[in-house]
Amino acid sequence: MYSIDLMVEEHKNINRMLAVIQKICCGILEGEEVDDTEHREIIDFVRNYANLHHHGKEEKILFPEMVNTIGKVADQVITHGMLVEHQLGRAHVMAWETALNMYKQNPKTEFKLDIITEAMGYAHLLQMHTEKENNAVYPLSERTLPAELWEDINNRVKIFEEEQTKAGVQEKYLNLLARLEEKYMKER
Ligand SMILES: [Fe+2]
Ligand SMILES: [Fe+2]
Repeated sequence: MYSIDLMVEEHKNINRMLAVIQKICCGILEGEEVDDTEHREIIDFVRNYANLHHHGKEEKILFPEMVNTIGKVADQVITHGMLVEHQLGRAHVMAWETALNMYKQNPKTEFKLDIITEAMGYAHLLQMHTEKENNAVYPLSERTLPAELWEDINNRVKIFEEEQTKAGVQEKYLNLLARLEEKYMKER
């Protein structure tokens, strides 16, 4: 399925960034300085690629169709599961940004701890979340949504992708990901 393949691919990219986040947090524990600009670049990736670009397609296109068509089971899994986790993710990112602001004003260890805690809280949550979608939520959609609905979903996803491509979204954030991997993941 075009839309599902695309979103699984995006999960891979998101997880590559989660690995970079973990590497950066380990570095801080080992005595590296907090690179404020870089943390904010990653937050920008998380907000605009993982959240608007990726969760956007789930929240606006796939998930509502699942809830409408499948009913109760999807309502449990989506409304009380996936969407709650999207919200938790946003809360971690907000707290991560607040910790960065606090640390910038006053570089105390407790604010540095907050930066690591929130960044890793987000990374763990999203890793678990994307795994659940790959293994349970997306397969449920593939098993249960009818073919004509998939046609509609795929068309809407295609249009959204084209708009985002025109705006340079994928290119911008995949370049950032490649740059950070080059810096942090090379010696692995
Ligand atoms: Fe999701
Ligand atoms: Fe997802």
